[in-house]
Amino acid sequence: MKSSDAEIKSIYQREDVAGGYDQKRFLNAGGQYINQLELNFVSDQLSSLPKASRVMDIATGTGRFALTLSSKGFAVTAVDGSPEMLKQVEEKAASMGQEVTCKEGDVRNLPFESERFDGACCFRLLWHYDDWQAIVSHLMEYCDGPFVFDLMNQRSLRKLIKPFADKVAYQSLTSEKEAESFLDQNGYEILHKEQAFAFPYIVYLKLPFLTALLAPIDRWLSRVGFGTMLYYTIRKKG
Ligand SMILES: C[S@@+](CC[C@H](N)C(=O)[O-])C[C@H]1O[C@@H](n2cnc3c(N)ncnc32)[C@H](O)[C@@H]1O
Repeated sequence: MKSSDAEIKSIYQREDVAGGYDQKRFLNAGGQYINQLELNFVSDQLSSLPKASRVMDIATGTGRFALTLSSKGFAVTAVDGSPEMLKQVEEKAASMGQEVTCKEGDVRNLPFESERFDGACCFRLLWHYDDWQAIVSHLMEYCDGPFVFDLMNQRSLRKLIKPFADKVAYQSLTSEKEAESFLDQNGYEILHKEQAFAFPYIVYLKLPFLTALLAPIDRWLSRVGFGTMLYYTIRKKG
C-alpha cells in the first residue's frame, strides 16, 4: 500500500532503523557488492567535476555517498529528513576525519536559499514516491551540473517482490519511457543511463555466497534491459 511522505520519513526516524541501516544492507558479501557498485557508479558519474566542487547528497541516509564524495575532495552537503540518520553521518565523518555539512530538511523543500551546487546525487529515495518527478524538479533548481539518481524499473523482477517489499516502505515502479519523457519535456538532458541489479537486492542479501556467481549474469541481464534499477545522470539542457 502507498505510504505518505510522513510515513516514509517516520520509518527512517526510528532509532532502530537508522541504527541498523548499514548493518542490514551492507554488511555481508552480497551487501558489500551492492554498496560498492552503487558508490562506484555515483563517483564515476561525478568524476568530471573539479576537486572542491560543491556537491549535494540528497536523502543521504547514513552518508555512504556523502563520505565517499568527500574523500574524493568534493565539498559535500548532505541533506536528510531524519536527525537519527544525520547523527550517524556526523559520527562517521568525525571518526574518518572528513568534512560533510549535514542539514536536516525535506527533499520537497530543501534547506537552501541562495546556495547552488555543481553536482548532486540522490539514491534510494525517489522510488519511495510516485511523484518523484516533483522532487527531481525541485532539487534541480539548486544543481548547475550533473545529477545522479536511481529509480525502480517497472519492467523487472521487482514487480514480483513489490507486494512484500511494500510492507517495509512503499516502492514506486517506473518505466524507462515514463522517466525519459518527463526528463525530455522538462528540459533535462540525459548524460548517461544504465540498468543494474536484475536480481533484486534481497537475493544478494539472503544468498551472499552466490554473489560471485550471480554478478556476471546480473550484469548481462541488466545490460539487455532487465535491471531492477534504472540509473540516470542528467543536467539542465542548454
Ligand atoms: C533508503 S534511505 C537511502 C539513504 C542513502 N541515500 C543510501 O542510498 O544509502 C532513504 C533516506 O531518505 C530519507 N527521506 C525519505 N523521505 C524524505 C523526505 N521527504 N525528505 C527528506 N529525507 C527523506 C530517509 O530519512 C532516509 O534516510
